[in-house]
Amino acid sequence: MKIIKLEPKKFSEKIFQMKGISKKAVEEHLKLYQGYINKYNEIQEKLSQLTDDDFLKANQTYSLVRELKVELSFAWGGIINHEIYFSHLGGEGKISDSDLFKQIKKDFGSFENYKKDLKATGISARGWVWTAWNEKEKRLFNYLGDAQNTFPVWYAKPILALDVYEHAYFMDFGSNRGNYIDVFFENLNWKEIEKNFEKIFECYCENKCKCNEDCQC
Ligand SMILES: [Fe+2]
Repeated sequence: MKIIKLEPKKFSEKIFQMKGISKKAVEEHLKLYQGYINKYNEIQEKLSQLTDDDFLKANQTYSLVRELKVELSFAWGGIINHEIYFSHLGGEGKISDSDLFKQIKKDFGSFENYKKDLKATGISARGWVWTAWNEKEKRLFNYLGDAQNTFPVWYAKPILALDVYEHAYFMDFGSNRGNYIDVFFENLNWKEIEKNFEKIFECYCENKCKCNEDCQC
């Protein structure tokens, strides 16, 4: 098996100077992110060393193959979720009159409705909430996930990730998750989220026509 060794992403220094979310909480949180990177690399090594005997013993209740495959997806989720999360933190919380803003208003009725939906989804989740573009339905939707690797939704591309695991807020907010989500909004860098949204429509053809599908170039 090919091994793709990952390195941690470097985030903006501004994530250590946020309003309401302490430097200490972010530092501890980043250690968890580093842990997912380490485990992702370690699991790939283990997968590359599987023997014919391990393949013969594959089993859905317990087997080394199952264990490694399940936990690889958990580690991968932990990496990607945190990379989206930390990349769009450290901002002023202001959204501009962008294509994304227009799309949010189209799909949720208003920006306030979108925030209300994201907050309630965050309070209802046990791990994550993602605002994602559903390529099939051509709309934005706030999806709920109970762990790093649960509820992947096919054709949904996340542009915003809200971590609602206790480790993300207990140090600063105790059990008041709603307050944490309000502060999360105040620290968002919407330019970064707008970029995530734009990237979805980027065409990979030479002309970068942004058509995304059925390219006529
Ligand atoms: Fe986290």
